[in-house]
Amino acid sequence: MEQRHVKPLLTWVGGKVRTAAHLLPLMPQTFNAYHEPFCGSASTLLAMNLIGKRVYLNDMNVSVHALFDVLKTVSGAQALNRRLAEYQREYDATCKASGREGGRRMFDAVRASFNRLKFDASRYAHRVELAAKLTFLNRTAYGSLYRENADGMMTSTYGPSHQRLHVLIHRPQVVDALQAYLSRNRVSVTCKDFSVALRLAKKRDFVFMDPPYLPSKTQGFVSYHQQSFNADAHLRVLHTLDQLTRKGCHVMILNSDTEEVRAMYRDYNLTTITVPAGIAGKTRRDLVITNY
Ligand SMILES: C[S@@+](CC[C@H](N)C(=O)[O-])C[C@H]1O[C@@H](n2cnc3c(N)ncnc32)[C@H](O)[C@@H]1O
Repeated sequence: MEQRHVKPLLTWVGGKVRTAAHLLPLMPQTFNAYHEPFCGSASTLLAMNLIGKRVYLNDMNVSVHALFDVLKTVSGAQALNRRLAEYQREYDATCKASGREGGRRMFDAVRASFNRLKFDASRYAHRVELAAKLTFLNRTAYGSLYRENADGMMTSTYGPSHQRLHVLIHRPQVVDALQAYLSRNRVSVTCKDFSVALRLAKKRDFVFMDPPYLPSKTQGFVSYHQQSFNADAHLRVLHTLDQLTRKGCHVMILNSDTEEVRAMYRDYNLTTITVPAGIAGKTRRDLVITNY
């Protein structure tokens, strides 16, 4: 079948859209199920062009979980498209009437209702709404950055400038292609800590782990949700790798290429990749850790 590139719906901090081409040749040729326990926008899964696989997606972020759960079904994708079309109409009308100030007010109102819904016990019943709000906020936030404070409240701010107020919020082709891709595989979506989600991994499964990178002196942004991913959490990743290796799973982990990370994973295979980082032709060195 011809390779068709399916775009992620979200622009995610630490997203691997531009890294995927470097990772694909390092992946195992054959495996049973695929597990991505830090899925974010799921850009790596999409680049793999899987067909007929058992796929386990997981992310601790409840709104990311809601989004992929909605996208698993045609009816979910249709409901999401309807809600995004409404957001597009409202955003365009607001900006036309009140300019950037109107766009910013709408962003603040959606962010407030997103934060209420995130903590609502009935949020699963309203997952289309949560997914639509996440998509709207992701498209209109400054740098598409998803940030949370210590209480788990999303704190990203409004992005578009006066000159570039128009934002494409409703992209039905992207939603539909993503839905079609997921339905070519048997996808389960969970919202747990990665170590719990990975209890389902079996011998000959492939596990791809892309945790927030290890904090260092030159640390960038690593706090996607209320509990930031600290050094202890990275030790848990290493411990999980040891367990999965004993089980006979193929595991690939990504992290920054630093002395600390190299020392931590010294018993495994390490490959450096140079990937584009930000604008102006800058690059960054990442470390690919594999147990095969
Ligand atoms: C580097 S991002 C993954 C980016 C993803 N590969 C992509 O291309 O979009 C890390 C993700 O891990 C999630 N996360 C952080 N701590 C987690 C945990 N303890 N268990 C599961 N997911 C977690 C964050 O919500 C975030 O989406």
